[in-house]
Amino acid sequence: MSAVISLSGAGKLFGGRRVLENVSAEIGASEFVSILGPSGCGKSTLLRLIAGLVPFEEGHIRFNGADVTAPSADMGFVFQTSNLLPWLNVRDNLLLGVDLDPAAKRPDAAALADLVETLGLTGFEDSHPHQLSGGMRHRVAIGQALARGPQVLLMDEPFGALDALTRDRLNMELLRIWQRDRKTVVLVTHSIAEAVLLSDRVLVMSERPGTIVEDVRIDLPRPRDPSVTRENPAFGDYVVRLSKLMGVA
Ligand SMILES: Nc1ncnc2c1ncn2[C@@H]1O[C@H](COP(=O)(O)OP(=O)(O)O)[C@@H](O)[C@H]1O
Ligand SMILES: [Mg+2]
Repeated sequence: MSAVISLSGAGKLFGGRRVLENVSAEIGASEFVSILGPSGCGKSTLLRLIAGLVPFEEGHIRFNGADVTAPSADMGFVFQTSNLLPWLNVRDNLLLGVDLDPAAKRPDAAALADLVETLGLTGFEDSHPHQLSGGMRHRVAIGQALARGPQVLLMDEPFGALDALTRDRLNMELLRIWQRDRKTVVLVTHSIAEAVLLSDRVLVMSERPGTIVEDVRIDLPRPRDPSVTRENPAFGDYVVRLSKLMGVA
């Protein structure tokens, strides 16, 4: 496995308070990896470190072999709360990141139509955020991260605040996008079931100061569908195993 993202002994302190300690992991091309851990253990911080959004004191984080020192257009970030601008329509919201970055290449009309279709938003290009459902707004937020054609998609609990049904639907959309484009995905979540459903591997973090205590490979058949995969006894076994690791079983 050639590592796209490689962490070795990464550590982070905020004002003398230790948040992350000795975090090491390798994430390969096209892998779907979830980071699972209790609230406050440093998951969001870790993802921001990988994205080059937050500096850190200890260890190394490398992206395609080079030390991460600043954000890269090859990594798209989906934040915990979506950053849609209410006065912009779907098309302009999708292009927001591209338009704000002078170095970014604007997708042509065909590429944009393709993205809109991938997101299931065809026909809503001229709609404004208040005219969309919660699930659609989340899909626009994912689209913002995809618009620049990144190699890696970093997602911080993107479906946290949604009802179970919408969450299932978006998980399926995400799997569909991932299966189609084969991007490397790093998803932060505190949902054990979501991590098992989506991932090739689940990295389990300890309480703060966060470190990776377990690296669990999820050998469930793909393509996955939430309602079918959840019926698989192996799915239940993974959930139980991860619950024990998380101390919630
Ligand atoms: N910018 C910051 N300044 C100071 N402390 C921070 C900052 N960001 C996060 N923290 C602290 O780091 C710890 C981990 O936060 P976070 O990474 O958001 O955890 P998680 O995403 O796992 O819930 C928390 O104690 C939080 O208060
Ligand atoms: Mg967080």
